[in-house]
Amino acid sequence: MVKSWAEPYKIKMVEPIKMTTKEHRERAIAEAGHNTFLLRAEDVYIDLLTDSGTSAMSDYQWAGLMLGDEAYAGSRSFYNLVAAVREVYGYEELVPTHQGRGAEHILSQILIKPGDYVPGNMYFTTTRFHQEHAGGHFVDVIVDEAFDPYDLYPFKGNIDLEKLGALIAEVGADKIPYISVETNVNMAGGQPMSLANLEAVYDLCGEHGILVMLDATRALENAWFIKQREHGYEDWSVADILRKICSLSDGATVSSKKDNLVNIGGFLALRDPKLAEKARALLVAFEGLHTYGGMSGRDMEALARGIEEMAATDDHVRARTGQVEYLGNRLLKAGIPIVQPIGGHGIFLDAAAIMSHLPQDLFPAQALAAEIYVESGVRAMERGIVSAGRDPVSGDHHYPKLELVRLAIPRRVYTQAHMDVVAESIAAVYDNREQMAGLRFTYEPESLRFFQARFEPAT
Ligand code: F0G
Repeated sequence: MVKSWAEPYKIKMVEPIKMTTKEHRERAIAEAGHNTFLLRAEDVYIDLLTDSGTSAMSDYQWAGLMLGDEAYAGSRSFYNLVAAVREVYGYEELVPTHQGRGAEHILSQILIKPGDYVPGNMYFTTTRFHQEHAGGHFVDVIVDEAFDPYDLYPFKGNIDLEKLGALIAEVGADKIPYISVETNVNMAGGQPMSLANLEAVYDLCGEHGILVMLDATRALENAWFIKQREHGYEDWSVADILRKICSLSDGATVSSKKDNLVNIGGFLALRDPKLAEKARALLVAFEGLHTYGGMSGRDMEALARGIEEMAATDDHVRARTGQVEYLGNRLLKAGIPIVQPIGGHGIFLDAAAIMSHLPQDLFPAQALAAEIYVESGVRAMERGIVSAGRDPVSGDHHYPKLELVRLAIPRRVYTQAHMDVVAESIAAVYDNREQMAGLRFTYEPESLRFFQARFEPAT
């Protein structure tokens, strides 16, 4: 018999949300240039734009806000954060930043020289931006399975060792300062890598003097999937798996707005004190003093507690991924094409399949996200050609193999009933899919264009 599970918490405070009329939403999306990033949150019913900074904090975290030490230098809250990162992730050196991209900026600047290559398992938007901004070339070395939405391979976040080996042979290890390894790869649909793969990557890079830098933003969710899928780890705690993941790296950037259950914050964590010294030299110029980076004392206090809490037992991550799986299974039952296996932080609709009547340069995923909003007030995000941007040298669009709409689930925020409403809304849009038109740019920003681009219907 299948046993039901329930969230390991109860609700103590609520924030009202409201449904709007379809006419209201049609106006709102037109004013937002058909870009869900430009909608006002007030006009959104169920907000699945992102799982970033949208978590509900616990009473323990809120209590921590009151205890935050706002000393400019040497804040007690900073030392609590250092202790939490050492305990849960196992890195000695902590460089606090305002959020993930602050850490990516500093890491890229201290390690990349113009003309260097930085391999990674699929790109992330801000990560690649900072690598290119520092003069590096990003090279995707993820396994091919990641590009097929229906391939059920359990570790679609893995690095393809042949691709990595070929890059090292081609450009030489001295042109590769580090490999950027993302856990639970966001753009692939929240797909994990295996410990066996990471171990092999760490060995290969070690032989060539290449550092392994994790993007450990969703490493907790990756650890959960390892426990479920990788032979030999069934009986490990998620906390122990997380520490093992980090032990196979030289450092990590983390956006604390995801796994870590806070609304703002992030860090760069390192093993090498010399490298940390270089990072701190930049930190004081770009983020803040080395004992707060970009965070207030209360932010650091809530973050230290979020890190502690997320990994204290397996219950939190089981419920978190369980809710995502629940929504995914409802959509699969309705026959809607989504990326599989179901990932850790959200459901990714295959817009290329749903909108198969539209070529990729009419931005099918962008159009689908806008349509979902108009239909139901549910806000999703494009993760396709608009997010992929342009090649900085040729100026052409990158044409990513995945053209997706992401329904990211905030942590501890919505209920199963909200997931039911989302599933019904998506099914209604799906039934109407052949009517949907594509879009064209009316304004295209030069970099990270998806955030602020504006569009109009291309009919
Ligand atoms: N790395 C990954 C894998 C991310 O998903 C993000 C952010 C970052 C780094 C950057 O962190 O936002 O704190 O500066 N992802 C958000 C998202 C924006 O919606 O997926 P940040």
